[in-house]
Amino acid sequence: MQLVIPSEVEESLGVNMTQLSPTSITDALQSSTPIAEIQVQGWVRTRRDSKDFSFIELNDGSSLRNLQIIARNTLSNYPAVQRVTTGASISVTGALVASQGKGQKWELVADNIEIVGTADDSYPLQKKGHTPEFLREVAHLRPRSNLFSSIFRVRSRLAFAVHHFFQERGFVYVHTPIITGSDCEGAGELFRVSTIDLKNPPRKNGEIDFAQDFFARPTYLTVSGQLEAEAFALALSKVYTFGPTFRAENSNTSRHASEFWMIEPEMAFCDLNGNMNLAEEFVKYLIADAKKHCPDEMELFARFVDKELLSRLDFVIELPFQRTTYSDAVDLLKNSGAKFEFPIDYGLNLQSEHERWLTEKHFKCPVTVFNFPKEIKPFYMRLNDDGKTVAAMDLLVPGIGEIVGGSQREERLEMLEGNMRRHRMDPADYKWYLDLRRYGTVPHSGFGLGFERMLMFITGVPNIRDVIPFARTPGSAEF
Ligand code: 4AD
Ligand code: MG
Repeated sequence: MQLVIPSEVEESLGVNMTQLSPTSITDALQSSTPIAEIQVQGWVRTRRDSKDFSFIELNDGSSLRNLQIIARNTLSNYPAVQRVTTGASISVTGALVASQGKGQKWELVADNIEIVGTADDSYPLQKKGHTPEFLREVAHLRPRSNLFSSIFRVRSRLAFAVHHFFQERGFVYVHTPIITGSDCEGAGELFRVSTIDLKNPPRKNGEIDFAQDFFARPTYLTVSGQLEAEAFALALSKVYTFGPTFRAENSNTSRHASEFWMIEPEMAFCDLNGNMNLAEEFVKYLIADAKKHCPDEMELFARFVDKELLSRLDFVIELPFQRTTYSDAVDLLKNSGAKFEFPIDYGLNLQSEHERWLTEKHFKCPVTVFNFPKEIKPFYMRLNDDGKTVAAMDLLVPGIGEIVGGSQREERLEMLEGNMRRHRMDPADYKWYLDLRRYGTVPHSGFGLGFERMLMFITGVPNIRDVIPFARTPGSAEF
C-alpha cells in the first residue's frame, strides 16, 4: 500500500520521499477501488507475449490466485522482461486497474519491473500435472505449486485453529520436552539421543555405559508428551501440548512418519466419556475451521485430489460419530464375511484394514472404539471394573483409520505400579510419574491427535509425506 510521508517531513529532508511498501497479491486482488501505484513481488508462473506487450501471471504464495501483470513494450527493460521465464522472481510497481480479461477483477499495468532473480529452463515446475512422487523429489520447490502451497497454507491455518480451540476452552499450552528418558507408549520405537563416541563408547560389564553419556542416563527423542502433560494437568486442570514427536517404527506406509506433530490435551477430573466427547468435538471443529477459512484451497482439493472430499467432510461435521466397544467391533468384523489380510480375534490389535472396514463399509462415518483388552495397550491406561479391559479409545475416520488415540489414565498408585511390572518397567524409573498418584491423585484423561493424519483427512491427500514440509520416513531424511 502507498506510504505517504507527511509534507513537513519531506520538506525538512528536501526530497520527495513518497515510497511504496509491497502489497500481497491477495490484498491487491481484494481491493475495492483501482490503485494508482502499488508494488507486488512474487514468482512468475507464466509469461505470454503479444504484439505490444507481455502478460505475466505472478504468484506470491499468499493465496492460490495469480495477479496478471501487463508489461508494455515501452518499459525501459522490456527486452529483459521478455526473457523472464517460469520460476523467476520479480518486483513490479504499477497501476491496479479493472481487468479487461475474463476471470479476474484486477490486473496490474507495470510502470517498472525489477527482475530480482532469473530462472532457466531447468526449473522443475515447468508444466502443470507433475505427480506427487516427482514433486517429493523437489520438496524445496514444491511449495511453489498450487497443490502444495494450498496444503501448507491449510496446515498453517489448522495449527492456529488448534490453539484457538483449546485456548477458547480454557486449556493451558504446555511445552513438553523433546529429549526425554521415558518411552511413554512402551513400544520401544525410540531414537536415541547421545553424544557417545560411536567408535569408542565407554563400557561397563561389557555393555555401553550410558551413565557416562551427555545426560548421565539413556535419552531419546520423545514419542509423546503425555506423561509430562499429566503432571501439568494435575496442577493446571486442563492443558494441551502441540509439538513434534518421533517414532523409529520401521513402517513404510502412507500414514506413518518418523517425525510428526501431535496435539495432546490432558484433563484432570475427566473420565473416558468426557475425553471421547472432546476428541469428537475437536475433529469436527478443525474440519469446520478449514472449510470456513480456506475455501479456495478446499475447492482445489475437491477438484484435483478427491472429488468426494467436501460432501464427506460436511457429513462428518453434521452427524454424530458412532461409538462401539472393542469387543463389539471384533464381533462385527468376525461376522462381516469380509476377507482380511490380517487375522481378527479378541485380543489382537485392529489393523488398518479392519479400522477402514468399520468406518467405510459398516458405520460409514467416524467411529470411536473404546475399552480395549489391557494386553494390547500401554501401561498408563486405567483398568476397567471387568479386570480385563482398559479405558482406552481410538477415533477412526474413513480413508485413514486411527486419527486419535487416548485413554483415561490409571490414577490408583498400586494398580499403576502393577501395570508397570506387567509391562516389565521398573517403577523406580518413573518415581516422578508415580508421585502424581501419591499426592492429590484424581481421575484424568487425555488423547493424542496426529496432526498430519488430520491434515490428510481434511485435504484428501492420501500420503503423509505430502502434508509435511520436509518428511522424515525410514530411509529418507533429505532436505
Ligand atoms: O495412539 P498414539 O500412539 O497415542 C499416544 O501417543 C498417546 N500418548 C496419546 C495420548 O493419550 N496423549 O498416537 C496418537 C496419534 C495416533 O492416533 C495417530 O494419529 C498419530 O498420533 N500417530 C502418527 N502419525 C504419523 N506417523 C506416525 N508414525 C504416528 N504414530 C501415531
Ligand atoms: Mg494408537
